[in-house]
Amino acid sequence: MEKNILEHIAIIMDGNGRWALSRGLPRTAGHKKGAEVLLEISKAAKQMGVKYLTVYAFSTENWKRSKDEVDTLMGLLRQYLSKDFNELVSQGIRVRFIGERDMLPSDILEKMGELEEKTKDNLQATLQVALSYGSRAEIVQAVKGVASKIKNGDMSIKEIDEKTFADMLYTKDIPDPDILIRTSGEQRLSNFLLWQLAYAEFFFVDTYWPDFTGEELKQIIEKYQKRDRRYGKN
Ligand code: FPP
Repeated sequence: MEKNILEHIAIIMDGNGRWALSRGLPRTAGHKKGAEVLLEISKAAKQMGVKYLTVYAFSTENWKRSKDEVDTLMGLLRQYLSKDFNELVSQGIRVRFIGERDMLPSDILEKMGELEEKTKDNLQATLQVALSYGSRAEIVQAVKGVASKIKNGDMSIKEIDEKTFADMLYTKDIPDPDILIRTSGEQRLSNFLLWQLAYAEFFFVDTYWPDFTGEELKQIIEKYQKRDRRYGKN
C-alpha cells in the first residue's frame, strides 16, 4: 500500500489545567510544562520529516479566562519569544504566527515579528503558532478581503473559487493539515482551522498535553499511514 502523504500536522494542545490540578498544582503550572512540551514536539516533528506543525496556543475565547491565567500565558509567551524559541532558530525551524494580532500587547507583537523575520529562510520545517486565533473570525476576515478586492475592481465575482478564497486566509501558502490531534480526551474542534481541516484525519488521544511525547506522535503518524484515506488532497 502506498503511504499517505504527510506534510502538515495540527494540534489542539488541551489538558494543561487538568494535568496541573491532578498533581495539586495551579493551572498555570500546566501551561509552563505545556510550553516545554511544545518545544520538544516541534523538534520531534521536524526529525520525523513533518514539514508543517500548527498548534493552537491561545484562542480568541481564551481572552475570557481569569486575568491571572491570561497574564501567565502572555508572560510565558514573552519568555519563549525572548529566549526559549531561539532553540528553534538554531534547529532551522521557521516560526509563523496566525491570529488576530491587534489583540496582543505591543511588546509581544514586536517580538513575534522579529522571530518571524529571523526564521523566514528556514524552509525545512515550519512551526505555525495560532495565537488569539478563531477560525470563524478568520473566515469572516477573508470574506471582507474578497469583498474589498471586488469593490476596488481588483477581482471579479467569477474569480472567487476555493483557491482564491484560501489565499485570503492566514494559512495561505501552507498546505492543509493531513492530521489533527487533540489531546486530553475532548473531541471538539473549538473553532480551530475549520476551513483547512476539511480533509484531515482526526486523532483524539486521552493524554493531557503536558504528558504528550514524541513517541506518541510517532505512533499517531504510524496509524495515519495505515488509514485508508480516500478523500485526500489531490
Ligand atoms: C488548553 O489547556 C491549553 C491552552 C489554553 C493553552 C495552550 C498553551 C500552551 C501549551 C503553551 C503555549 C506556549 C507558549 C509559548 C505560549 P486547558 O488550560 O484548556 O486545560 P484544561 O482543559 O485541562 O482546563
